[in-house]
Amino acid sequence: MSAKKIVIFGVTGVQGSSVARALLTDTHTKFKVWGVTRNPASRSSQELDKLGVQLVKGDLEDAQSYADALKDADGVFLNVNFWAAYKGNNAEEARDTEIAQSKAAVDACKAAGVKLIVHSALESYAPTLPIPHFDAKAEVTKYIKEQGVPATFLYTSYYFTNLNSAKLEEKGDETVLQLPLPDDTQIPGFNPNQIGWFARVAFANPEEWTGKDMYACGENVRVSKIARVLSELSGRKYRTMGVSKDDFLALEGKMDKELWLNYRAFVDGHMKRDPAKSLKIVPETQDFMAWASTDKAAIEKFGLSTEYSKNQA
Ligand SMILES: NC(=O)c1ccc[n+]([C@@H]2O[C@H](COP(=O)([O-])OP(=O)(O)OC[C@H]3O[C@@H](n4cnc5c(N)ncnc54)[C@H](OP(=O)(O)O)[C@@H]3O)[C@@H](O)[C@H]2O)c1
Repeated sequence: MSAKKIVIFGVTGVQGSSVARALLTDTHTKFKVWGVTRNPASRSSQELDKLGVQLVKGDLEDAQSYADALKDADGVFLNVNFWAAYKGNNAEEARDTEIAQSKAAVDACKAAGVKLIVHSALESYAPTLPIPHFDAKAEVTKYIKEQGVPATFLYTSYYFTNLNSAKLEEKGDETVLQLPLPDDTQIPGFNPNQIGWFARVAFANPEEWTGKDMYACGENVRVSKIARVLSELSGRKYRTMGVSKDDFLALEGKMDKELWLNYRAFVDGHMKRDPAKSLKIVPETQDFMAWASTDKAAIEKFGLSTEYSKNQA
């Protein structure tokens, strides 16, 4: 069987590069991996070039720039980055940019006869809780379905890696994780560097996954558990901010609105994920502790021990 050609949008990003690596290391299905980037000379592009990614200079703002690359493609990974157009106060504009760029890419896939789009998806909680960066992806899912383009909808969850940018405050012998959420808030999260393993399952088995939803989630981890695991793995005393729901609600307007809305979706329990289902698709899916004890940046930032992961090996 000839190798399957997969084109990745956002190939230099967290999700896209994970998909590229997963496809290039597949031992069963052979993949030829193409990646669209605005800058093939960048360091991240060059790293992917060395791994065997065929780089295409293209811009989501200009469908002509990547149209040729889609010819003969068996699959496309589509993840359009809301945050690229977001300046902190223009969420609706960034949402509309993501939708327009995504729809143009879907149209180009349809014209080229692409056999499967794996769309990096998020659901909408509107009208109860409109969140522009969720609503954009939900609108694109709707459009792909309307256009009748074969697709798998890969619903993501919170990146555990976001915590590597959380502020830490030293208070006596304790370190307070600056995550302003009530302790019992459950955060559906996953290691985004594993998203490629989910996409790979869909690209390798389109007969099983076309038209289906897939969910990537390692754990619905409580805020209190995050602090507990960091303490266990480090021997240091991590603790939460201990905020109440009212404290959290009072932060509206005082922190980035998109982030606050995203947190609100967790506080109100809108995001539903079942890690058991993710484990069935990708048995290596990491829960929070497995991620924390293997992620280089987390190990460094939080002073974690890698003994746990060694014991799991
Ligand atoms: N953080 C979270 O917890 C989380 C959770 C779930 C979903 N998400 C969603 O994930 C998305 C971000 O994905 P990511 O983390 O993989 O992003 P990322 O690491 O920031 O990478 C962004 C990618 O977008 C590409 N890009 C940006 N503008 C482009 C354009 N005009 N034309 C072509 N390519 C363009 C960049 O490519 P070049 O610069 O090489 O051109 C880069 O590869 C967001 O929409 C976010 O809502 C985030």
